[in-house]
Amino acid sequence: MPRSEPTRQARTRTRRRGAARYVLRPVTLGDMATVLHQRVAMFRAMGDVPDRRIARYGPTFARWFARELRAGHLSGVLVETPEGAAVAGGLLWLQPRPPSPRFAQQRIPYVLSIYTEPAHRRRGLASRVTRALVATARRRGFPRVELHATEIGRPLYERLGFRATNQMRLVLP
Ligand SMILES: CC(C)(COP(=O)(O)OP(=O)(O)OC[C@H]1O[C@@H](n2cnc3c(N)ncnc32)[C@H](O)[C@@H]1OP(=O)(O)O)[C@@H](O)C(=O)NCCC(=O)NCCS
Repeated sequence: MPRSEPTRQARTRTRRRGAARYVLRPVTLGDMATVLHQRVAMFRAMGDVPDRRIARYGPTFARWFARELRAGHLSGVLVETPEGAAVAGGLLWLQPRPPSPRFAQQRIPYVLSIYTEPAHRRRGLASRVTRALVATARRRGFPRVELHATEIGRPLYERLGFRATNQMRLVLP
């Protein structure tokens, strides 16, 4: 008889057991190469940016990363194996916004660069990273967190409570 698919509950249990051996830690300036690697891999996975543009992108990102981290507008977490290999991560950027009567703050926390190495996927790592980034925003008193989701990222974020908004886009030729 064919074996039935494991239930979501069973998958969550397996995932939690597997996830316990991974360690989350904050991103520092010294993690530039790892963070860049994860960001480049994320863009490659998305498949909508030409390789030659991704290849030239490193120094621009590195400058932005260092400046925003030093200014306190950027933070992040990396997930490591017990051997110290970074296998997942994500960033939280406090994005400048014009003043609004809705919020006291002129920055909105924005989640970016969520990435898990293929061999470590579907063990709850990206979810752990996103929850940690949301917790940072909450601790700092922000009323909301925003992000743009890829197709495979969308269900993960929805499970964490994110909802599609009223944002619109006009693509200029
Ligand atoms: C999306 C991504 C970050 C998920 O990482 P992860 O550590 O596997 O995520 P989690 O284990 O916390 O959550 C897994 C959930 O993501 C979704 N997901 C992950 N891989 C998927 C796939 N190949 N197909 C469909 N859904 C997928 C599912 O909802 C899955 O839940 P399930 O296993 O119960 O079905 C990872 O696949 C990745 O790095 N992809 C490439 C970069 C990217 O798209 N980043 C997101 C930018 S918004």
